[in-house]
Order: sequence, then structure tokens, then C-alpha cells
Amino acid sequence: MTWLYNFLFIALPYVALTVFLIGTIYRYRGTKFKFSSLSSEFLEGKKLFWGSVPFHWSIIILFFQHLTAFLLPDAILLWNAQPLRLLILEVSSFILGITAFVGLFFLIFRRTTTSRVRAVTTSMDLILEGILFIQIFLGLWVAYGYRWGSSWFASALSPYLKSIFYLNPQIDVVAAAPLVIQLHIALAFVIVLLVPFTRLVHLLVYPLAYLWRPYQRVMWYWNKDKIRNPKTPWTLFPPKNN
Ligand code: HEM
Repeated sequence: MTWLYNFLFIALPYVALTVFLIGTIYRYRGTKFKFSSLSSEFLEGKKLFWGSVPFHWSIIILFFQHLTAFLLPDAILLWNAQPLRLLILEVSSFILGITAFVGLFFLIFRRTTTSRVRAVTTSMDLILEGILFIQIFLGLWVAYGYRWGSSWFASALSPYLKSIFYLNPQIDVVAAAPLVIQLHIALAFVIVLLVPFTRLVHLLVYPLAYLWRPYQRVMWYWNKDKIRNPKTPWTLFPPKNN
């Protein structure tokens, strides 16, 4: 099994990080406009709201929670030193995991059942959503099956992740971890590897300027209810100003 662990926890991370770095730069330089997650909101909005909002809020918070355990393990351990605080962190993270899972389920359901959205869905969109679905499921399994993950992440997994970046991989802990945890870690590297080839690249171009730019005001030049009504007859001249 040593060769498999070497592959999954040493080779795969380096391949993933290299492909991520070179691939994203290459894609950004080559296809700047398509360096995004092309919106399908115009095609369908209601189901999108119920999937996208819970999924994004939960996964963003969980991402920063993972990042804190990785970069500031001592801070997490200090927080967890109080049982009540540990419980608050674990329960709230688990609820966020479930919200992300349910939100993603709605997004997959919408993509596969709404014909207008299906028409603009690529196989890569479905593969990515499938992998994220499995990854979140594994995360929930890890959290539920191997309690107080936030503490042992900080004390055992953070050193492993750091050892990758220090170019001195130490895989003893992950090689001895239960299978579900190993799968959760390996799949995370697969997701990193897939970033440049999927709509996940939009993570890197988050439109932060939207937070401080002025509101846009959309003014209709015509009566939109009338013009959208299929029974309204077609006219040779543009509609009058509304
Ligand atoms: C694409 C990357 C990843 C995604 C989407 C993801 C997602 C999740 C989710 C949804 C949970 C359940 C929520 C929770 O209770 O915290 C979770 C838990 C967990 N994840 Fe990840 N994860 C990712 C990468 C990683 C990596 C790289 C590691 C470690 C090397 C990791 C280690 C853990 C651990 C230890 C838990 C349990 C935390 C706890 O019990 O509080 N995850 N993950």
C-alpha cells in the first residue's frame, strides 16, 4: 500500500498544485472572458436561488473554517479548549455541511431537470457537481463518524498539509487515518486539479468590486409585461416609451 499512499498524498498534491497554478494562468491569459462561472440566472431563477444561496454561503464559511484549521491550528485548539466552544464550532460546521449538501442537491436537480438549463450544461459541469456532492458527503461522514475533527485536523492534518508546502511531505498520519478521511483528503486534491478545467475558476475572480460599486438601475424602455406576453402581436415599429 505504500506506493498508493505515496501516490495519493505526495504525488497527487504536487500534480494538483502544479496543474492548478499553470492551468489557471494559461486559461486566464487565453480566455479571459470565459474565466468565470457563466450565469444561467436568465434561464431559470427560482430554483437557482434555493440551491445557490444556501450552497454558496455554507461552503464559503466552511472553506474559511478549513483554512483557519490549516493556517492557524493553535487558534482552533485554543478555541476548542472549552468544551462548549468546541461543541458550538462542531455543531455549526455540521449544520453548514448539511446546508451545503442540500443546496448542491437542488443545483444538480435544477441542472438535470430544467430543459433550458440542461441545454447550457456541459459534461464537466455535471462531473464537477457530482464530485463536490461526494466530497461534502464524505466531509459530513468524517465529522459525524470521527468526532471533534476540528481539533484533530488542527493537530494532525495541518502538519501534513504544511509539510507538502515545505516540500518535505510527512504522510505517516494520513497513511494511518481511516479510509473515509483518506478519501476526503485525496478528493480535495482532485478538486484543486480540476479548477482550471471547470467553472470553479470563478473562485479566483470573485467580483469584490460589486461590494462598493454603485447600484445599477435598470430602466425598461417598454412595458415588459406586455412585451413578454406571447399573445402580444409583433409590430413593425418598436414599442412606445413606457
Ligand atoms: C474541496 C475541498 C473540501 C471540501 C468541499 C470539504 C468539505 C467538507 C465538509 C462539507 C465538511 C463537513 C462540515 C464540518 O463538519 O466541518 C468537512 C469536514 C471535514 N473536512 Fe473537509 N473539505 C475539503 C477539503 C478538506 C481537506 C483538504 C482536509 C484535510 C486535509 C479536510 C478535512 C476535514 C475534516 C477533518 C473534517 C471534519 C471537521 C469536523 O468534524 O469539524 N477537508 N469538509
